[in-house]
Amino acid sequence: MKQGVKSIFKEFWGHRWKVVLGLACLLVVDGAQLTIPLVVKAVVDAISEATATLPWIAKEALILFGLAMVVALFRFAWRHFFFSAARQVELDLRNRILDHMLALSTRYFTKTRTGEVMALATNDVESVRQAIAMGFVAGFDASIYALVAIGAMFWLDPVLALWTIVPLPFLALLMGVSLKAIYDRWDRVQASFEGLTEKVRESVAGIRVLRAYAQEDGDMEDFGRRSKDYYDKYMHYEKVDAVFHPAILLLAGTCVAILLGVGGARVMEGRTSIGSFVAFSSYLGMLTWPMIAAGWMLSLVQRASASMDRIDALLRNDDIEDDRPVPEGARIEGDIEVRGLDFAYPGQVEPALKGISFSVPAGGSLGIVGEVASGKSTVAQLLCRMYDPPAGTVLLGGRDALELPVGFLRAHIAYVPQEAFLFSDTVAENLRLGNPDLTRGEMERACRLAALHDEITALPKGYDTLLGERGITLSGGQKQRLCLARALLKPAPILLLDDTLSAVDAQTEQAILAGLKGETSRRTTLVISHRASAVRDLDRILCLQNGAVVQSGTHEEMVRQEGFYKVIVELQEMEK
Ligand SMILES: Nc1ncnc2c1ncn2[C@@H]1O[C@H](COP(=O)(O)OP(=O)(O)OP(=O)(O)O)[C@@H](O)[C@H]1O
Ligand SMILES: [Mg+2]
Repeated sequence: MKQGVKSIFKEFWGHRWKVVLGLACLLVVDGAQLTIPLVVKAVVDAISEATATLPWIAKEALILFGLAMVVALFRFAWRHFFFSAARQVELDLRNRILDHMLALSTRYFTKTRTGEVMALATNDVESVRQAIAMGFVAGFDASIYALVAIGAMFWLDPVLALWTIVPLPFLALLMGVSLKAIYDRWDRVQASFEGLTEKVRESVAGIRVLRAYAQEDGDMEDFGRRSKDYYDKYMHYEKVDAVFHPAILLLAGTCVAILLGVGGARVMEGRTSIGSFVAFSSYLGMLTWPMIAAGWMLSLVQRASASMDRIDALLRNDDIEDDRPVPEGARIEGDIEVRGLDFAYPGQVEPALKGISFSVPAGGSLGIVGEVASGKSTVAQLLCRMYDPPAGTVLLGGRDALELPVGFLRAHIAYVPQEAFLFSDTVAENLRLGNPDLTRGEMERACRLAALHDEITALPKGYDTLLGERGITLSGGQKQRLCLARALLKPAPILLLDDTLSAVDAQTEQAILAGLKGETSRRTTLVISHRASAVRDLDRILCLQNGAVVQSGTHEEMVRQEGFYKVIVELQEMEK
């Protein structure tokens, strides 16, 4: 069996009780429905043989009504059981997708477009749900119907039965041929949907840039192209899918024609009763549904199998961040050592860092300055293991960072990435991110240190102001300072600031740095900046150029040497 179908069955199995109950109800419905022609046959035969009495007919009519009631009630029940099982699978799958995605390493996110994950969590999950809700039910129902109807037909008149089912093997042939096509084409539909989703996401996220460059039309064109591609792929898929219905109806029509011809003759010859003939045609009518259902089921399940394979590919991605137990005696108190660190980003030939070495004692401070793209942020990312450094090159608390579980390691670093990111939530909730039990007083203290408190209190609802898409947009400098305050509130022995004050003016920068002094004397502090003013008071400063350390020392030492540091200090003096 196909892997995708197997996985779907596994999902199914998790809700087996609902499924079993659903199937039981379905059996009752089928049983009742398949009995109806027999009642009709008895009545027709009794009337044609003039043996019927009025009270007897009334009784038979009541029986029919009772059967119809049973059908209605149990149909409600099986739909309830099946549909709730399917919705449950949908819920589980979607949660698992997000859960697993959150556990994946940073490498996954550098390779994956947001649209891919969105498509998985929407369209693919939906097609799995449909297969479970309708595909399997239809398959089961159709098999029961087909078996009983064909059985009953053979019981009524084996010769006629043989004649009428002659066209059925053609159906099996048709289905066999289409299966692969459905799988492949659906896979392409979903891949195209990914592209479309990603496009919409990007257009919305980049709407300001698009407007600034008056590129709405160009973007629309691009969107139109992708939309058309999705349409084309879908039509390509629909073509196979659409073959089924007419082909099945044609086959069913052929069966009826055979029945009329062969069956009519047999009734005239007296080999079969009129009642049997009528019942026979009812059963034949009932066979149309399994034929349609079989086609429908195969395409639903085939589609779902393609989708499930895509979902499984994500769920089976084992590039997850390690969650090993913390090694015994491991402690991160703040001392950092980097030894001969070489690093190239995955898939990149050119190294981003070449032989970087430095060490900071617990409670000490280090500044890293350098030109754009000199590797400053790369150092920060490796310290937090957003990417893995080579073994033995980064040591925290005297231990190789690779030996420490990432969760443990990151819990000890208050890292402010270069790109300020805030969640669409209140100011207070954003501040609580690393520490849910914060008091208002603590938040205010951190925001005062980040020279932001006054600006927050000036917002409409102060600390409870909603930020982001449905709230207030902060300025670039405000965002940076809020991210800084958030990091200050995280009780971690290492503070790592990546160009965190780049968007504030020199005066505010100095005010913040002065305020931070008390803070930085308690924790190990790393400040990355392209401005010398942000690092001049730190214990030691490292100058990076092209991924290598070109100079290091204290501010006082280096301003007296000819070199990189003196040049940037002088340049910045001139700017003032
Ligand atoms: N995810 C990545 N994949 C591949 N290459 C990367 C990645 N991130 C950065 N680089 C490359 O690594 C080099 C160093 O980048 P890095 O971000 O560390 O520079 P930086 O010193 O922080 O620059 P800036 O001052 O502009 O922030 C650059 O050449 C950059 O193109
Ligand atoms: Mg950077």
